[in-house]
Amino acid sequence: MTRMLVTGGAGFIGSNFVHHTLKHHPAYEIRVLDSLTYAGYRESLTPAGDAIEFVEGDICDADLVERLMAGTDVVVHFAAESHVDRSLHDPEPFIRSNIMGTFTLLEAARRHDVRFHHISTDEVFGDLPLDSDDKFTEETPYNPSSPYSASKASSDTLVRAWVRSFGLRATLSNCANNYGPFQHVEKFIPRQITNVLVGDRPKLYGDGVNVREWTHVDDHNAAVHLIISGGRIGDTYLIGSGDERSNKDILETTLELMYQERDAYDRVPDRPGHDLRYANDSTKIRTELGWVPEYGDLRAGLAQTIDWYRHNEWWWKAQKEGTEATYALLGR
Ligand code: NAD
Ligand code: DAU
Repeated sequence: MTRMLVTGGAGFIGSNFVHHTLKHHPAYEIRVLDSLTYAGYRESLTPAGDAIEFVEGDICDADLVERLMAGTDVVVHFAAESHVDRSLHDPEPFIRSNIMGTFTLLEAARRHDVRFHHISTDEVFGDLPLDSDDKFTEETPYNPSSPYSASKASSDTLVRAWVRSFGLRATLSNCANNYGPFQHVEKFIPRQITNVLVGDRPKLYGDGVNVREWTHVDDHNAAVHLIISGGRIGDTYLIGSGDERSNKDILETTLELMYQERDAYDRVPDRPGHDLRYANDSTKIRTELGWVPEYGDLRAGLAQTIDWYRHNEWWWKAQKEGTEATYALLGR
């Protein structure tokens, strides 16, 4: 058995990664390290039962990380503060968890010669013009816009430095926007779905022209496994479905799929510094590692996600009120 440490495994992508791994890669023995911030839910791992070990703890806790790393063959590092709006309101936790947390893991991983995969985001590259066919590539210079993306950019450069200077066996991936089950209701798609489900109107920032490349979380996690098993040490891989949509388009499609009028939403003040468009050129992972996204049809993936929120109110109901109270303070 290969001993895998999954940081942030009680969050959205991390919990889906655990379920994906148990189903498709049973040779891994999984241990999750997660401090259960407002975004971490032990319940997201309920379907895994006792097939995994769960450790509640902080990636900044050097003693704990040192002990866990001693019994680990491969780390998949998802843990992070992940929400742009929160980072604009209170950047400190982002600097701490995303930068200091990654540093703490890297130091322990190099002491124990542990294989390291770092999960990152397309937001490190900044944004692209709305009306162009430009895409980010593995060579695009970093140009982050928000405290969140700046903290992720910092963590990426730390990983690259540990590869070059200390010979750490690490790879990196920068994925586009994910959607799917177990995503916190603060994020765009689940916020709108759950607004409809509780009888509130969805909220669109500004005029909704901003474009994101929506990738199903299972496709992201399948890509991560390909990198862990076949990726070149020191390399970065961009991941993205290729399906670019404006926020307005996503919202109107969601409303249609939920049998609402397509214009049944409110426009709210825009996010400061709002990135216009993200788009990844994922040719490298497709050609070198054979990654093919299975969720080719975003409408079908969205319908499946709506269904999941409809049937899993037990999971999201408790988050909803506090999340909307925070948005009300931000005026969004
Ligand atoms: P999330 O906010 O849903 O989950 C983050 C998890 O990390 C939570 O369980 C939280 O409790 C845990 N965590 C935070 N700080 C911690 C700390 N100091 N110690 C231990 N655990 C801690 O985030 P997500 O959307 O699942 O994102 C996971 C990773 O993927 C992040 O690194 C993010 O930058 C990256 N990413 C996300 C997306 C996306 O669309 N959501 C896209 C590309 C990359
Ligand atoms: O691109 C990858 C990134 O995608 C990840 O690194 C981040 O962790 C993840 O949160 C996500 O960042 P975004 O800022 O793109 O996602 P968010 O869900 O917050 O918003 C998506 C778009 O929808 C964005 O243009 C803002 C807009 N939006 C968001 C919310 C919450 C709205 O119009 N209304 C809303 O209520």
